[in-house]
Amino acid sequence: MTCKILVTGGTGFIGSHTCLELIADGYQVLVLDNLSNSQESVLDALEQISGTRPEFIRGDIRDRILLDRIFQEHDIAAVIHFAGLKAVGQSVSQPLNYYDNNIAGTVILMQAMQQAGVRSLVFSSSATVYGDPQQLPIPEDHPLSATNPYGHTKLVLEEIMGNVYRSEPGWRIGLLRYFNPVGAHPSGLIGEAPQGVPNNLMPYVAQVASGQRAQVQVFGQDYDTPDGTGVRDYIHVVDLAQGHVAALRYLQENEPELLAVNLGTGRGYSVLEMIQAFARSSGRDIPYTIAPRRPGDIASCWADTRLAREKLNWTADKDIQEMCDDAWRWQSSQS
Ligand code: NAD
Ligand code: UD1
Repeated sequence: MTCKILVTGGTGFIGSHTCLELIADGYQVLVLDNLSNSQESVLDALEQISGTRPEFIRGDIRDRILLDRIFQEHDIAAVIHFAGLKAVGQSVSQPLNYYDNNIAGTVILMQAMQQAGVRSLVFSSSATVYGDPQQLPIPEDHPLSATNPYGHTKLVLEEIMGNVYRSEPGWRIGLLRYFNPVGAHPSGLIGEAPQGVPNNLMPYVAQVASGQRAQVQVFGQDYDTPDGTGVRDYIHVVDLAQGHVAALRYLQENEPELLAVNLGTGRGYSVLEMIQAFARSSGRDIPYTIAPRRPGDIASCWADTRLAREKLNWTADKDIQEMCDDAWRWQSSQS
């Protein structure tokens, strides 16, 4: 048996890009995904890009019997845990579904890990745990809060992981707080494929550029920002994926630790700057109108990146134009 990394949610947007970086770094990858928000054909693309097809099990992280079997049959060294639901609006209308999938699912996964003696876990948290930022850039010791059920699942899971870490020596846990993941693999073979109307800015802008939607609604131009529109720390998904490999290596090579770390670029861009950058990448006009603020939105958000640099020796280096170029290549291949 060879040591493997179990990647839950590995056919999803961030998971699939991370599988590629793990393979490039010499890891063996076992993907567990219930395909509730992704397609099995992603595995074909991963094979085409990397020359290696990750092992795949279609299944649910809430299925304890399946998890026990996986840990018995495979020599798993660590788990990178992406599986979960992520739409903020849907979490407000279906809170129980979010608590079940995200919280119950993660508890079951960690119980199975505990029983199998697997104590290394890299978890997809989110900058949403900082709530409305009291300072910029946002450091990891900023106070935490949640304003919707999705954010609450991330906050509660961070707490649960802290409790587990303190209850039993030996756990190595990385809480990776992502800022705004965008872009796609430069091959154009994998990317973000939102179902229905995209909630997030970049996929929406991409669909306007490709003619699928008429115009972007800019949610508010009266924020206290340079051009009045919301400012976010957009990070290329390939940089983000490399951040996972850096976190995994760090956890494997150091003493057991519970590490909460920001994965962002440390620089913010406004909605209008994003629209302009995407227009340059696509060579298309991107019509927009100014709409009311979206409830729950904050004005600005960007990461303090020092801890990631110091501990993980990792920084995000792809710029906004590369994010838009790659997102456009992926979008163009879709339509
Ligand atoms: P995604 O929906 O593309 O990927 C999640 C994957 O998990 C999907 O393939 C889905 O089929 C699978 N899945 C969901 N529930 C499952 C279950 N119960 N059992 C097995 N598989 C299940 O999302 P993503 O953008 O790749 O996000 C990955 C993780 O990162 C999520 O936990 C998300 O909350 C977190 N995150 C995402 C963002 C973002 O903007 N994309 C930002 C911060 C944090
Ligand atoms: C959203 C989620 C957040 C999640 C993050 C990453 C909400 C309230 N927050 O954050 O929990 O962690 O995605 O997945 O949903 N915008 C427009 N028009 C659009 C879409 C967005 O103007 O059609 C603006 C927003 O107001 C914001 C910026 O674009 O200023 C980015 O929005 P989005 O991509 O949804 O990300 P966040 O709001 O940062």
